Amino acid sequence: MRSDGKTVRSGSDKSTAVPKHIGIIMDGNGRWATKRLLPRSAGHRAGVKNITPVVTYALESGVSCVTLYAFSAENKCRPKDEVDSLVDLIRKHLKPMTRDLIARGARVMFSGDRDYFPDDIRNIISEVENENAFESAQTVNIALNYGGRSEIVRACKLAAQNGEITETSIEKALYTAGLPDPDMIVRTGGEKRLSNFLLYQSAYSELFFTDTLWPDFDAAELQTMMSEFARRQRRFGKLQ
Ligand code: FPP
Repeated sequence: MRSDGKTVRSGSDKSTAVPKHIGIIMDGNGRWATKRLLPRSAGHRAGVKNITPVVTYALESGVSCVTLYAFSAENKCRPKDEVDSLVDLIRKHLKPMTRDLIARGARVMFSGDRDYFPDDIRNIISEVENENAFESAQTVNIALNYGGRSEIVRACKLAAQNGEITETSIEKALYTAGLPDPDMIVRTGGEKRLSNFLLYQSAYSELFFTDTLWPDFDAAELQTMMSEFARRQRRFGKLQ
């Protein structure tokens, strides 16, 4: 039992069908703040605070990869003050947050076009990558200035440069090369769409949508989704 009274299955009580890879679209920060008469930036701050507990629960449950949609390529088109506040949050929290995840044994990696970000943020990303000086069975993949369509275009160009365009050569050129495809994609905040997230990789993902706004989403709700995942029949287009 957790201190907030909710029961969460411990890491040792694993389902037989634990997803290998969960992608999370962390939506609803703005509405969470607006409901409390706070500026949207307060919702993003609450959203950042929620990442470590949810990701830690997934890792303790035996999930080998979590991909977080932290800053989409389209987020750059929001009003400048909101983009600035998101970039400031990344500047302030990326290193401590990832250091904590690395200390828990995860490898942290990034997907997306980092050239958009100012030098100091690109340096933070490189520093975090360099702190991963170990092999780990668990990965936290942070999608920053990421868009699924541009990832596919980039991967096709790289695959063509290196030879033939095939599914294998495209997969090797995706940011997620070497990771399993997401078994589950979770979207909080009530919308039911993928919004350019892991478009190539999500061909057979099981989709989970909840009205819960990201800052309110917790391990107990993820546990419920993972239990439903374990009950779903996945056929990958085949009959059995
Ligand atoms: C969607 O909420 C969420 C985002 C645009 C950003 C999510 C980013 C974080 C939680 C922080 C990332 C930071 C680090 C350090 C990894 P929204 O604003 O679209 O919510 P709304 O739909 O209610 O307006």
